[in-house]
Amino acid sequence: MTADSTQALSPALSRSRALRDTLGQFATGVTVVTTRDADGQPVGMTVNSFNSVSLEPPLVLWSIDKHALSYNAFTANEHFAVHVLKADQQHISNLFAGRGTDKFGQIHWHSGPAQLPLLDDCAAHFHCRRMQCIDGGDHTILLGEVLEFTASGGEPLVFHRGRYRALAGD
Ligand SMILES: Cc1cc2nc3c(=O)[nH]c(=O)nc-3n(C[C@H](O)[C@H](O)[C@H](O)COP(=O)(O)O)c2cc1C
Repeated sequence: MTADSTQALSPALSRSRALRDTLGQFATGVTVVTTRDADGQPVGMTVNSFNSVSLEPPLVLWSIDKHALSYNAFTANEHFAVHVLKADQQHISNLFAGRGTDKFGQIHWHSGPAQLPLLDDCAAHFHCRRMQCIDGGDHTILLGEVLEFTASGGEPLVFHRGRYRALAGD
């Protein structure tokens, strides 16, 4: 963001937007994280804050916006599943980035261990048990132990500077 384009914004807002833009320089994969809410309904959201933490013990993390509609479900249910999306699954990323929409009526999924909703087709998936919820400002960091995982491979979906990208060739 240039100085010109931020002139009309308050200094705090302009700094926050500049920070978001700068963080966007960091390319990530795209995941969909799922669980079930207290009524047993499947919930899920698109997440690119997913990352590995430790191999021994096997730990991963991601962070959830405290205003997300599925916040209560993810901080109450002990289990969650992380699905790594493939390059041709932008539509699934967009679907799960929506709010208040029927996300599971439009895709193929099944119930896995701990009744977790598992997407039928993805590059990899991890079944995790939540170990800790750590306060992280306007987000909460969920630290999970990996209980099971599968990888089917394929080109990953990449997110960079607010856009989906293709991986550059080898
Ligand atoms: C590529 C991408 C990555 C995202 N990563 C996160 C994330 O790491 N944490 C988060 O809370 N929201 C993230 N979001 C936004 C959520 O997917 C979005 O707010 C969604 O509506 C939340 O669903 P819910 O309100 O039904 O819980 C991301 C969105 C996109 C498109």
